[in-house]
Parts: sequence; C-alpha cells; structure tokens
Amino acid sequence: MSTSLQLNALSRHFGGLKVLQDVNLEVPQGGIFGLIGPNGAGKTTVFNLITGLLPPTGGRIDFQGHNLAGRKPHEITRMGIARTFQNIRIFKEMSLLENVMVGLHAQLGYGPLGLLFSSVLFRSEERRARERAHELLSWVKLDHKAQEKADNLSYGEQRKLELARALATNPKLLLLDEPVAGMNSAEKVELMQVIRTISARGYTIFMIEHDMRFVMGLCGDIAVLNFGRIIARGDPDSIRNNPEVIEAYLGREDDEVSLAAPGGAA
Ligand SMILES: Nc1ncnc2c1ncn2[C@@H]1O[C@H](COP(=O)(O)OP(=O)(O)OP(=O)(O)O)[C@@H](O)[C@H]1O
Ligand SMILES: [Mg+2]
Repeated sequence: MSTSLQLNALSRHFGGLKVLQDVNLEVPQGGIFGLIGPNGAGKTTVFNLITGLLPPTGGRIDFQGHNLAGRKPHEITRMGIARTFQNIRIFKEMSLLENVMVGLHAQLGYGPLGLLFSSVLFRSEERRARERAHELLSWVKLDHKAQEKADNLSYGEQRKLELARALATNPKLLLLDEPVAGMNSAEKVELMQVIRTISARGYTIFMIEHDMRFVMGLCGDIAVLNFGRIIARGDPDSIRNNPEVIEAYLGREDDEVSLAAPGGAA
C-alpha cells in the first residue's frame, strides 16, 4: 500500500510545553485513517503542523514524497491537502453556494475578487464552478439549501458545509477535525454514510474524532496520541483492547469518551 502522508520524528513545543514529541506516523493512501486521544493530547496541533499553520519544532512531514517544511498554508492546499476545523470556520453572511465557491476559487488560483471580471472565458469558468459547487453540496446532502445564508444552518449542517468547501479545493488528502462534534444521532449516521461515499470516490481521509462509535465504525486503522506521543496503532479491536489506551482514557471525565464496541454511530 502506498503512503499518502508521513510524519517523521515530528515535534512541537510551546515554550516549555512539549505538545508533540517524536511523532512517527504513516497515513496510507486511500482509506479512512483515525487519530484519537484524550483532550489536550496534541491532535489538532498535528493538523496545524501538516497544514502549515504552525511550523514544527523538529522533524519532517512528507506528502506524496514532497517535504512540506517551510511551505505556506495556501501552497499546502494547492498540493492537495484540505481540512475542516474543530471550531467551524465558514462565512456566515454568505450563501452555501458562495461558501463552496470560495474553496473552488482557492483551487483555480484567483481570489473571490475575480468574480468582478466578466470576460467570456471567465463566465464559462464561473458557470463550471457553480455546477461543481452544487455537485459538492449534493455530496453532503445540502444542495436543496444552496441559496440560503450559512448562518441559518444547524450546527451539524455547518459542519457538512465546511466539508463541502474543503472538497472544493480538490484535495487528495482530507483532514477532518472532529467532524461529528455537536451533531445529533441522526446527523452522525448520515455523515458516516457521506464520509464512506467520499472515501469510495478515492479521497484519502484522516480524521480526529472523540466519538468512538463513529471513529471505530469508519476507520480500519487508528492511531492513539497521549501527551504528545503515539502510544498505539492498529485496527479498532486492537485499540479497544490495548491496556495502555484504556489507561490513557481512565479517569478523564472531561472527555466524553468510552471505548464502547461499535454498533453504528451513536
Ligand atoms: N498555539 C498554541 N500556543 C500554546 N499552546 C498551545 C497552542 N496550540 C495548542 N496548545 C496546547 O497544546 C496542547 C494540545 O492542544 P491540541 O489542541 O493539539 O489538543 P487536542 O488533542 O486537539 O485536544 P482536544 O481533544 O481537546 O481538541 C494543549 O495543552 C494546548 O493548550
Ligand atoms: Mg483538538
């Protein structure tokens, strides 16, 4: 199996706080890979390093054979890595369609101001972008709300919109930071299906998630981060039964986590 993303001896310190220490992780191409771990373990920091929002203190990140060190976030997006955020970032005053088109423009290489130009060529590109935006909204089952203001969406719908916008940059690797946080049971079940379909279309998915049923139901391969170190990696059964993993989660009542057996998204 070929590798999509490889982290080698990756570390990140904040002052004296060693948030990530010597993280080695290989994310295979294709499939749905999961990263779990207690609150504050350093999971989101891993995504911030991969997407260039923060420089590493040490180590390296390779994506499809290219070193990401020193690259700016927009270059990393162009190379084919897109993400969603733990705290949703969408343009609330814009329509759903416009939100997704912002992602398409990032990929086409001209900014939203490009909308002001009106050459024939531009208008045909614009039409194609609009069609693609509708298509991506339909993937996340939001096309019927394309013209609504993003602010009108429920929390779960806003998460799906962010996913559609991430897809608009035409990524090869999609990083999802807690995709079901704040969703109700029905929304989780639906999102599970949406993510399976996206995965089947050939996107590599790397997700951080606290909902154990969701992550274990979707990911065949899971890594566990605890205090900035990878303590386990394997299939859901081996993770669920790993004594060090159980220990890491014990006594952390702030974490709404139990290592329950899967049985669909709860
Ligand atoms: N920019 C920053 N400056 C200083 N400290 C930071 C910064 N970003 C993260 N940290 C610290 O690093 C640690 C790990 O944070 P991170 O957000 O990566 O954890 P997480 O595993 O995503 O947690 P959660 O499950 O709660 O989202 C925390 O102690 C956090 O306060
Ligand atoms: Mg986080």
